[in-house]
Amino acid sequence: MTKLATARAHTNIALIKYWGKENVALNIPTTSSLSLTLDQFYTTTSVEFTDSSKDELILNGISTDSTRVSKFLDLFRQQEGNFSKILVRSENHVPTAAGLASSASSFSALTGAMFNLLELPNDVQEMSRMARKGSGSASRSIFGNFAVWNKGEDDQSSYAESFYDEDINLTMIVAEISSSMKKMSSTKGMQLAQTAPTYGAWVEKAAHQLEEMKAAIRAKDIEKIGLIAQDNALGMHEQNRNSIEPFDYFTVQTRRVIDFAKQCYESGLLAFVTIDAGPNVKIITDRASETELLNKFKVNFPEIPFEVAHAGEGLRYV
Ligand code: PMV
Repeated sequence: MTKLATARAHTNIALIKYWGKENVALNIPTTSSLSLTLDQFYTTTSVEFTDSSKDELILNGISTDSTRVSKFLDLFRQQEGNFSKILVRSENHVPTAAGLASSASSFSALTGAMFNLLELPNDVQEMSRMARKGSGSASRSIFGNFAVWNKGEDDQSSYAESFYDEDINLTMIVAEISSSMKKMSSTKGMQLAQTAPTYGAWVEKAAHQLEEMKAAIRAKDIEKIGLIAQDNALGMHEQNRNSIEPFDYFTVQTRRVIDFAKQCYESGLLAFVTIDAGPNVKIITDRASETELLNKFKVNFPEIPFEVAHAGEGLRYV
């Protein structure tokens, strides 16, 4: 019987962002980052050896271009010695309309499945390092709840680890704003952002924000977490607008949702935002406020689907 190895990983949302590379080939970042892994969105990936002449990728049942996956599998070949081609079957439980980044859960699940198939030691640090080379944010999805990716300075020293594993009642409400805008890849986006004259200051500030964020999480202080995350994320998007080729992931809807969150906060509700390389907004709040806040958003934005997420688990074999 052919061996089949299957792993599942959840997506994560950074509260302190990774937005810039010191080393593009190795995905060594300019900043350390900190994320929450979410329960709602995940990828399940199976791998097996195949006699085919090339690596194959079947994504949600559809044969898909495997170039990026194959390049990633070659890293295992370089490390472990050559092996035959791999058939990758991946199911993405991430709403497609949401345009949520699935690369974090995808490369984390693929890493886990390959470690299992190749019978490599179950070493999460090694897995995180490997997942990082597939997609930087995937380094954090190996872990559940809060994870910190310490930037490091080379391949060996750049990996994520579990930061805090208690439930702090944090909620993320994802506003699934779909967009017809042409998407700028995160790699290209980062490259441009790094040309902004203000980029160095954002990086420097992020280092302080990371320490403040760690303290706020330990103190289970959702308001502080939200304020820091919001400032860090809005700062990230400022760099895009300040780059030599200014661009913006925000749409009109993105801005409306951000403004409404601010209005809710001013009226006394816990409501903060974070935004990644796309138009969607993740609204940060706590369990006690989530229903009231969700209802307000639904009334104001009847056309936008919302999804409520909490802390999720790390990589699992299934
Ligand atoms: O892992 P990538 O290359 O898709 O980059 C992710 C970048 C952000 O999602 C915008 C921020 C982050 O830290 O996840």
